[in-house]
Amino acid sequence: MRILDCGEVSLETAARALAEGKLVVIPTETVYGLGADAFNPEAVAKVFEAKARPSFDPLIVHLAELSDVERAASAFPPMARRLAESLWPGPLTLVLPKRPEVPGIVTSGLDTVALRLPSHPVARRIIALSGTLVAAPSANPFGYISPTSAMHVARTLGDKVDYIVDGGPSAVGVESTVLDLSRDGPPRLLRPGGLPLERLRELAGDIAVAGAPESKAGHAPLSSPGQLAGHYAPSASLRLYPAGGLAALSRDEIGEGCAAIVLDEAAASALARKGGFAAVFALSENGDLREAASRLFALLHELDTSEYGSIMAERVPEKGLGLAINDRLSRAARGSGARRGSHTCGKTP
Ligand code: TXA
Ligand code: MG
Repeated sequence: MRILDCGEVSLETAARALAEGKLVVIPTETVYGLGADAFNPEAVAKVFEAKARPSFDPLIVHLAELSDVERAASAFPPMARRLAESLWPGPLTLVLPKRPEVPGIVTSGLDTVALRLPSHPVARRIIALSGTLVAAPSANPFGYISPTSAMHVARTLGDKVDYIVDGGPSAVGVESTVLDLSRDGPPRLLRPGGLPLERLRELAGDIAVAGAPESKAGHAPLSSPGQLAGHYAPSASLRLYPAGGLAALSRDEIGEGCAAIVLDEAAASALARKGGFAAVFALSENGDLREAASRLFALLHELDTSEYGSIMAERVPEKGLGLAINDRLSRAARGSGARRGSHTCGKTP
């Protein structure tokens, strides 16, 4: 594996490697993606192998420009076109009917394909230079925390890829919002993500959220094949509490060596003053949900490589990027602790 910078020569090297069927990790504004030539089934098979990802979980195909849609989709319905024209490049993935040229391994045999035009200039440049489209899941081992820096990838998948292009920290920090427009009826939200649902509703009106109301349990039950509970999980155990819930716990209930995650600095200082936690972290200084999303995975990576026995986190408000943050936290909570057998502190919330 070689880490490449973002100079033009490096980007040409990365693009050539993709065209030759190699695995190249590319930076995007959401998270780093483990890229392969979307039209090369053997290269795509290596992506599944490197991540140990089950073959029923389809990949997103990344485009360099809007007109690339027709290379992979057999139809571009008016609503999808309107959303793409307003919101691309950006953290939105559209599921559309697929062209037969897209190999079945990319879409797990579905007759639809997920497409995204990323806004990170390095990603778009590499895809454009490669001359192909790039199938890329998040560049993490299956079920583990998604990477928002080249170092996160090097640490967890470094020996399984050919190149990692270092494009700096991912600005959005959570994966794209996935919207299904492949059928008649209102668009269906398959995964909350970096593009807020409110913004989609402004443009598209009605959006179907499976199992609505979406705020009921703090996350919506979704029907994308890859939306498994127990995703995004750190090795340490993680428990999720309602907003404000950590302040109500006694020292006994907290236990030894626990790190706490809360939304803002005010809540963090109050918890730290009260005592009981080995450390308290705020996702954002003033409770800004964009900032919180951009820091979430980096903080989980950091905590996962340190000595804390477990992590106790509070939910954030269910609006804007809060929907995606709560979704990732609750999946992390359901899948955590699996790899390290760490002790669990805190009572069940
Ligand atoms: O921000 C992102 O979306 C990042 C960056 C790298 O672009 N990629 C990413 O990929 O998060 P991944 O593979 O971790 O998540 C893709 C999600 C999965 O939940 C998968 O099931 C869903 O998209 N998906 C892909 N193709 C689909 C399809 N044809 N129908 C329904 N869901 C699909
Ligand atoms: Mg992923």
